[in-house]
Amino acid sequence: MARQISLDRKELLIAPSLLSADPLEMATSIASLKGQHDWLHVDVMDGHFVPNLSYGPALVKALRKRYPQEILDVHLMVEPPEAFIESFLDSDPDFLTVHVEATAHLHRVLGRIRERGVRPGVVLNPGTPVESLFPVLHMVDVVLVMSVNPGFGGQSFLREVMSKVTDLCRFRAVHNLSFLVEVDGGLGPSNVLEVAQGGADVVVMGSAVFGTEDPGKTLEEIRKKIAGDS
Ligand code: DX5
Ligand code: ZN
Repeated sequence: MARQISLDRKELLIAPSLLSADPLEMATSIASLKGQHDWLHVDVMDGHFVPNLSYGPALVKALRKRYPQEILDVHLMVEPPEAFIESFLDSDPDFLTVHVEATAHLHRVLGRIRERGVRPGVVLNPGTPVESLFPVLHMVDVVLVMSVNPGFGGQSFLREVMSKVTDLCRFRAVHNLSFLVEVDGGLGPSNVLEVAQGGADVVVMGSAVFGTEDPGKTLEEIRKKIAGDS
């Protein structure tokens, strides 16, 4: 089913991470967002590329079946991604993002994702230089900048990655590209404004949303905070 996805960078998009939702109450957790979210971020971990395990394509498939209109943003923390992408592509996500550090064949993987009609994204760890992405930025719809070392929710924001957001925005303007810049890890009410002002188009938030009593209200308050600034 075709879902409307705009790459226009008008307002900050919020992608709650289901990693911090109750795995036995996924549907209740999604309902608790009260439609205040833009995308759903799905963290896939293989216990090899990152020191944690989460879930696989069956969850993405089930989410797609239950929520045909949701924008599913699937973040693959698996190595090598080329061994897994076909089953994720079959599960009909909107964005499929792969780590630059996880494959020697990044160009081929991104090309394959696009070929299957899914929007490709590329992710970089805090310790990876942004220049490593420059050769493939014309191929992607989203760049995910990790602001924690991937593997776990609830870690502290690494502010130093914001210079990569600046560099990506500059590269995008110079080369007349249209990918979105997404920031993931350690984000919440205390720093979302600074990340938005730093140039992020999309923010991922796990524990800061699902760790609260009323995730929908939390998102509403975060949106007010951002709007109050503009
Ligand atoms: C980390 C994941 C993140 C994580 C974010 O490996 O990629 O998406 O769930 O969680 P918080 O917002 O709690 O840092
Ligand atoms: Zn993530």
